[in-house]
Amino acid sequence: MAHVGGDVPRKIMLLSRRLIPRLAVCDPELTMTCPPWLVAGAGMDALSHAVEEWLSPRPHPAVDAIALEVVRRVARDLPRLHAAVVAGADTTERRDPAAGMMMSALMAGMGFDKGVGLVHCLSHPLSALAGVHHGTANAVLLPAALEFQRPHVPDKMRTLGEAFASAGLPGDPVEAVRELNRRLGLPAGLAAMGVGEGVLETAATQAFADPCRLTTPVRFKPADAAALYRRSM
Ligand SMILES: [Fe+2]
Repeated sequence: MAHVGGDVPRKIMLLSRRLIPRLAVCDPELTMTCPPWLVAGAGMDALSHAVEEWLSPRPHPAVDAIALEVVRRVARDLPRLHAAVVAGADTTERRDPAAGMMMSALMAGMGFDKGVGLVHCLSHPLSALAGVHHGTANAVLLPAALEFQRPHVPDKMRTLGEAFASAGLPGDPVEAVRELNRRLGLPAGLAAMGVGEGVLETAATQAFADPCRLTTPVRFKPADAAALYRRSM
């Protein structure tokens, strides 16, 4: 992703085979100095990738299996990791859930073939216009976005709820994400993250133009995006 300045800042996607790395070093030791807010926000970004890949209408059974497994793993590992970080646990206690989350983030990245959806459409403009952290914005937007999409994909939402419930979270995916956000100490809404009412209409227009709308299970209009922002404030 790239931030583009100008009169109206935008965040756009840059895609090229030349941008695909030849090698990725996934060593949880490198995350041992991450502060709690970054552990929570980055972890919820990985979760939002898996949730949106599962909901994407693009057919890809292999990614479906990966995405549901990532939801189960993040629901299990992320609260443990965050609690260890907040408690100042030494690297031994922190290493296991950190390794789990790093694998989950990698697995969710492997699922990008299915595309992500509405939450990413909504969060990209907020990073450009209000400078908010991407994963944290996703976490705050997820409950309203899931509620909006649920009537259109009820079976997928039920299966998603079962994945959360496997780790002891509520079997309703909206409630499960709210509970995770609470446990991780994430902001209660966009306003608490510094997003002002003044950017919402521009953000809604940009969300409607975001390429991730092509893999969203529900068609939405700029007015829907604006309503979802306001419900998430
Ligand atoms: Fe993301």
